[in-house]
Amino acid sequence: MINSPLGIIGYPIGHSISPRFQQAALDHLGVDHGYQPYEVHPDRVADFVASLRDDTVLGINVTVPHKEAVMPFLDEIDEWAAEAGAVNTIVNRDGRLVGYNTDGYGFLRALRESAGLDPAGKRALILGAGGSARGVVQALLRAGVAELAIANRTLERAQALAELADNRGVPARAIELNALQSDGFDGQTDLIVNCTSLGMHHGPDEAASPMAASQIPPAALVYDLVYNPMLTPLLREAHSAGAPTLGGISMLVYQGAASFELWLERPAPVSVMMDAAMSAMREREAQAQ
Ligand SMILES: NC(=O)c1ccc[n+]([C@@H]2O[C@H](COP(=O)([O-])OP(=O)(O)OC[C@H]3O[C@@H](n4cnc5c(N)ncnc54)[C@H](OP(=O)(O)O)[C@@H]3O)[C@@H](O)[C@H]2O)c1
Repeated sequence: MINSPLGIIGYPIGHSISPRFQQAALDHLGVDHGYQPYEVHPDRVADFVASLRDDTVLGINVTVPHKEAVMPFLDEIDEWAAEAGAVNTIVNRDGRLVGYNTDGYGFLRALRESAGLDPAGKRALILGAGGSARGVVQALLRAGVAELAIANRTLERAQALAELADNRGVPARAIELNALQSDGFDGQTDLIVNCTSLGMHHGPDEAASPMAASQIPPAALVYDLVYNPMLTPLLREAHSAGAPTLGGISMLVYQGAASFELWLERPAPVSVMMDAAMSAMREREAQAQ
């Protein structure tokens, strides 16, 4: 059961830095609410969501593995969440629970504000075809991307995402990740987005980069969704290639800022949240050494 006005559920949840930067935002604005992490076993999700209807609760964030599981227990699902098939924010509106997905919005806002790139009319190469890749592709389609290439270990999943783009009238091709160079990627792209979990701390292969420096065009922005570590193997390769880069912290903070604005109905102090997120990550990295 929830016992704070705001929080985040996941399983496990200890890794999440959302409590750090959300609490920093609340404290900065003098809002007397707690934002707590809740480790909720998959069997307990229905009960936990039911407890959000209490009038002391504003809402929660939802992270892995509950983003799809919470959906049947909500009263309303917004358009972005329905399209993504996943909810990362729940708002309690007088006992009615509304599900949102702010990941795509956070991805785009980070791209535009932290890297200064508007994807309208641009070409993008997406690495990965899992949950985050789906959200990124949908966000780029909404933003008017001109052309997509999707590279994934499992080709069929890349093909399904490419089809989604094609159906919206945006030319898209699917490529096998480990055959990027030989299999149709000509280096012609303005943006490369890593949506695989390669390079992620405690992920499938911490040391691996989905692309080598020699494959990265120096003019393309390399955007890694992985934020732990902050300097990922892909970002190192991009630096060697001389390409501009953007790490995943910025998206994490902007998706959280959008959640904050849905709950509190006031502007989120983004720079306070960014500073708190960066210092939380630096502490984690120092502890891991
Ligand atoms: N910055 C942010 O706010 C933010 C938001 C969301 C996610 N993320 C990060 O994005 C990453 C992906 O998240 P997700 O939710 O999309 O995960 P997911 O749905 O599990 O998808 C994982 C992706 O990684 C690929 N992959 C996994 N292991 C691989 C390996 N050994 N070799 C090659 N490819 C491999 C998978 O390929 P297959 O299809 O072949 O299995 C799939 O494309 C995570 O690191 C997550 O932390 C960051």
